[in-house]
Amino acid sequence: MRSVIPFNRDWLYTPAQVSEDTPDSTFQAIDLPHTNIELPHHNFDNADYQFISTYRKHFRLPEPLNGRRLFIDFDGVMIAATVIVNGRRYGEHGGGYVPFSFDITDAIHPDGDNVITVLVDSTERPDIPPYGYVVDYLTFGGIYRDVSLRYVEPVHIDKVFVRTLDVLTAPRVEIDVWVKNHGDQARTVSLNAAVEYGEGAAIDGGAVVSVAAGAPQQYTLALSTGGSFRLWTLDQPERYAAFITLSDSADRQAALDEQEILFGFREAIFKDDGFYLNGEKLQLIGLNRHQTYPYIGAGAPARLQRKDADILKFELGLNLVRTSHYPQSPHFLDRCDEIGLLVFEEIPGWQFIGDSDWKALSLRDVQAMIERDRNHPSIILWGVRINESWDDEAFYKATNALAHQLDPTRQTGGVRYFMESQFLEDVFTFNDFSKGVRDPIHTPHLITEFNGHMFPTKTFDQEERQIEHAHRHALIQDLAFANPRVTGAIGWCAFDYNTHREFGSGDRICYHGVSDMFRLPKWAAFVYASQVEPAVRPVLHVLSLWTMGDRSEGGCDPLMIATNCDYVDIWAGDQQLGRFLPDRERYPHLPHAPITAHGGTQLGVWGKAYQDLRVVGYVNDQPAAEQRIAADGVPQRLELTADDDAIHADGSDMTRLVFRITDAFGNRLPFATAVIQFSIEGEGVLVGENPFPLVGGQAAVYVRAARQPGTIRVTAASLTAYKHLQPASVTIRVE
Ligand code: GAL
Repeated sequence: MRSVIPFNRDWLYTPAQVSEDTPDSTFQAIDLPHTNIELPHHNFDNADYQFISTYRKHFRLPEPLNGRRLFIDFDGVMIAATVIVNGRRYGEHGGGYVPFSFDITDAIHPDGDNVITVLVDSTERPDIPPYGYVVDYLTFGGIYRDVSLRYVEPVHIDKVFVRTLDVLTAPRVEIDVWVKNHGDQARTVSLNAAVEYGEGAAIDGGAVVSVAAGAPQQYTLALSTGGSFRLWTLDQPERYAAFITLSDSADRQAALDEQEILFGFREAIFKDDGFYLNGEKLQLIGLNRHQTYPYIGAGAPARLQRKDADILKFELGLNLVRTSHYPQSPHFLDRCDEIGLLVFEEIPGWQFIGDSDWKALSLRDVQAMIERDRNHPSIILWGVRINESWDDEAFYKATNALAHQLDPTRQTGGVRYFMESQFLEDVFTFNDFSKGVRDPIHTPHLITEFNGHMFPTKTFDQEERQIEHAHRHALIQDLAFANPRVTGAIGWCAFDYNTHREFGSGDRICYHGVSDMFRLPKWAAFVYASQVEPAVRPVLHVLSLWTMGDRSEGGCDPLMIATNCDYVDIWAGDQQLGRFLPDRERYPHLPHAPITAHGGTQLGVWGKAYQDLRVVGYVNDQPAAEQRIAADGVPQRLELTADDDAIHADGSDMTRLVFRITDAFGNRLPFATAVIQFSIEGEGVLVGENPFPLVGGQAAVYVRAARQPGTIRVTAASLTAYKHLQPASVTIRVE
């Protein structure tokens, strides 16, 4: 039978290419996922992570082979890996965003000590997508995703694709199973599959097949009809498990292999007049996500990957994310399935197409992406062009044909930035940097980027810029809602990200996010957050610092408020300034238009005394949300919060610690600069800059669990300014 054993622990690492006889004592002990170098969150040189490093692991087989084959599975190594087992070298795998495996059975010492070495080349290899030219993001380096060992019988299940049909009328399931026979003769086996739908009820199907030796053979099992299934929807993303078993045909009890695949019943189609999920039209509203984080590059464990999906769905209120510009972590996609967040996933690349070998790798990426991810109900579209590249008819006909062959159930897109581009895909996915929304030439049409470099904005920019940033996101989403031929719009982008010197603000950050790189909101984030229905969560956020002299010429008129409330009352001290409605003139089509409150001198005058601001939002004439902003602007609190109460004692689990300097009502004070010093006790380490010179009023560090259970206690104190602020502490259990 199959066993899959996590292989993340107890690796040795050295940031150099060394030979196999280099002593262990020159390495450091690490656990995976791992970044080849921890960096400051900005102002580093992007050459810093570009080197070859060596990973080594000594191990004895965790289980006896008992005639089985043994594979090592890498979820992702940036950007090329050469694997050596007991001196036996396997070919180099090039490409940092897709998984790869080696059958290491013949190299292993079944009863003795083994050593595996992985040489990881994290330089910008021009022969491997996305490189060849510059790209506007950083790839970082290391064995940055999970590794596992997989034991399988010589005859085993290689791949599975669960396809649902007639989902809205009479749901059916067909399952493609690829069986690999590693022997030298054909073998007759029995293949069976079942999907349960409660109280022992199931649909099933099976076949007895003769599997030729050699390359994996494909079989399709049509399961019996008639099951009663709930749909996978955004509010109730119901999933089912398909159990696939492979057994000896003579002896059905002698199971050879077993796989459990989660999938969902949903129909997702882009049509000329809109996107339809389960037969209902849904306006897509999304943001682009890069997979990189401050300090740790791309080496983020499952918890942080899952948290990003939660932020996109539950904090930003999105229904779609684009995994710009590459396949992302399986943990991220699993979470999108679980919570009901749609995904547009695309192949690695950025504006550049290489030679024929490079294109062959890119086609390999199409295949690896789709074979890895086609069972995810959240994925609604495959991106099969290099982001924003020039037209290449033969190449893109090939990527589209391959995608359709590997997955006949999904449409393709391919992101371009010129309208005249040859339309070879099913959906015209277009980056619209026109500052408006261009009328589609081809349909279905999806806007896959806007804003971004057109208006970079920092959390510590002057308030007029931050307001304009929010307005631009509201405006383009509004125009996308207005045009019935536009299926939706995905803004650039969710989170600020590290980048090359050729882009960004010179400190290796593109400040293009509606949130900063710590995933903390700028004001534009509240434009998205406030598009959810108030019954889900009432949202009200004033897009102002409520200071009398930050804007040109002073005052706060007009006051913009991102909210899903029906109306707001605004008070300055005990004086009511008026009742204000959503600004339907500026944003006629958004589900929830921000409010533009014009109050003239009532909203402050340069140099005149003013009072605390209070804004109360009403839903169905009941108060539903409120925000207050102190007029005195005095830092009152240093806040420190952890995303999780408990993390795993596995040496690699992490959680985020957010810290902020706020006024008396909890509003961050973006111009309160202070050096924050952290102290940490217990079973974990701090990941991030310590001390941290805070700008923007908010930032984050992380803690990584040790391998011993216990607790971690972190305290933050303001070292320089604002000595009156009390230190803040959090305690996290390590379990
Ligand atoms: C696009 C590109 C993105 C990002 C963005 C910045 O052209 O696809 O990766 O660079 O510009 O606005």
